[in-house]
Amino acid sequence: MNVLSLDAVSKTLVDAPLFEQVTLGIDAGEKIGFIGRNGAGKSTFLKILTGEIMPDTGTVSRNRGLTISTLPQRPLFRPGTSIEEYCFQNDADHGALSVEEHASVADTFRSVCRELGLGDLGVRMGTLSGGMVRKVSIARCLARRAGFLLLDEPTNHLDLDPPVSG
Ligand SMILES: Nc1ncnc2c1ncn2[C@@H]1O[C@H](COP(=O)(O)OP(=O)(O)O)[C@@H](O)[C@H]1O
Ligand SMILES: [Mg+2]
Repeated sequence: MNVLSLDAVSKTLVDAPLFEQVTLGIDAGEKIGFIGRNGAGKSTFLKILTGEIMPDTGTVSRNRGLTISTLPQRPLFRPGTSIEEYCFQNDADHGALSVEEHASVADTFRSVCRELGLGDLGVRMGTLSGGMVRKVSIARCLARRAGFLLLDEPTNHLDLDPPVSG
């Protein structure tokens, strides 16, 4: 049973089409990776899945009540925003949370941050490295416990752990 499906979706942003006549169904529990060179249209495709942009032709169907959490390729924030404030910032990807959701997101966010090695959540976003911003954004995205996770280049700016010696 598809949670999200595309039927004959095409999109052109400038000259040549980025993709044409894409028909695709995504089932519950599926994990799908998209690969393509820079500028191929991966981010555009993900924005079509969320409804942030509309396709030129074709239709996108999402299950009624499907919640989507997005890790954008370029997270937006004011530099003075703290890590904790950023988690609850409302934007196009993540709208306002109810009081109950706020509490459960806060718990999950703090525990994911701890797992990712982020200690002080009062630190301002503008002082973080690219890798730290990415980790905070991943924590923010996972904390929503959405039915559908969309991660755009989640490993950008992240270093591999050094090999364990001995
Ligand atoms: N809002 C826009 N207006 C015009 N062109 C755009 C816009 N967004 C992206 N593009 C262009 O569309 C192409 C696909 O972009 P994008 O989806 O970001 O590719 P990818 O994520 O695969 O690198 C690129 O050539 C990019 O410059
Ligand atoms: Mg991209």
